[in-house]
Amino acid sequence: MMKTRVMPPTQEAIAEAARLIRAGALVAFPTETVYGLGADALNPAAVAGIFQAKGRPGDNPLIVHVASPEAAEPLCHVDARARALMDAFWPGPLTLLLPKKPVIPAVTNAGLPSVAVRMPAHPAALALLAACGVPVAAPSANTSGRPSPTAARHVLEDLGGKIPLILDGGPCEVGLESTVLDLTAPVPTIVRPGGVTPEMLSRVLAEVTVADSVLRPLRADETAVSPGMLYRHYAPRGQLTLVRGAPEPVRAACRALYAEARADGRRAKILAFTENAAGYAGCETLTIGSLARPETVARELFAALRRMDAENVEVILCEAVATEGIGLAIMNRMCRAAAFRVLEV
Ligand code: TXA
Ligand code: MG
Repeated sequence: MMKTRVMPPTQEAIAEAARLIRAGALVAFPTETVYGLGADALNPAAVAGIFQAKGRPGDNPLIVHVASPEAAEPLCHVDARARALMDAFWPGPLTLLLPKKPVIPAVTNAGLPSVAVRMPAHPAALALLAACGVPVAAPSANTSGRPSPTAARHVLEDLGGKIPLILDGGPCEVGLESTVLDLTAPVPTIVRPGGVTPEMLSRVLAEVTVADSVLRPLRADETAVSPGMLYRHYAPRGQLTLVRGAPEPVRAACRALYAEARADGRRAKILAFTENAAGYAGCETLTIGSLARPETVARELFAALRRMDAENVEVILCEAVATEGIGLAIMNRMCRAAAFRVLEV
């Protein structure tokens, strides 16, 4: 076991992190979406270390982080459409899948013809990328399968003893991973929804579509456009059920399922929006943000799922949100965390 240092992103800490990355080591750092586990994207041995630390399957490609749109040019073929998207949304939670250039080692993008590139909006991430002077491959800094980390303590829970340094930039602002947009498809396709919504993208693109696997499980005969979507993901250890419908029936169904679990002697909890919490008097609840401000739900969701594990909750009931705006990304993560157990009422 190595000692894992946790440091605020001071100038000295950034310089140390950059030194580690250039030397082939791993560093966890904050972004506006979730914490990333970074390594030199052009150093195959360093990138292999990411897969090992996370227990990540080798066929799941990584996102390469850059300090500027210009820094993406040596890595992939940037056409006019990609440039317009970078102008509109970078730095920010938008990852672009573009045809890769030869410099990308196969271990970084799982040997695919495309590579994922993103310029994050967090000042500490940008300072680190500038100081490194190399592109940084970084998946979410969680153990594969667990909810992504939205605070430094989540990274420490999963990767403590396995990496030398975590830069602690406080809680992440968006709380869900970036939107992944496939620009190699005939029509630009959102393969993972995130902070940059379909509505926002359609202001820049003439055409944009959402992969229909975003809200349903893949069929056995299908190959995933985004391999990460294949794996069991974001899942708490307890059994999560999503309940969707009008507020009154949803509340009644959650209360009934809660009572049933308790009668079985099982530890149960309801994840509720602040507006609805009062309707669950007598039940154990955890509020996960406000329906009126879905961005607060995005910010709190992963920490809430981790808390369910910490408290050994066996039965988790959660209200569904509308799939507009950031709601699409929230439902994409919630459906996976629930293994698509969605109760319509
Ligand atoms: O917000 C984020 O994107 C965070 C922060 C750290 O930047 N990173 C992140 O990385 O979420 P990761 O590895 O947890 O998720 C990357 C997703 C996976 O679903 C992966 O399969 C997909 O992007 N992906 C990466 N490269 C791809 C490629 N060339 N083709 C298709 N999918 C790709
Ligand atoms: Mg991930």
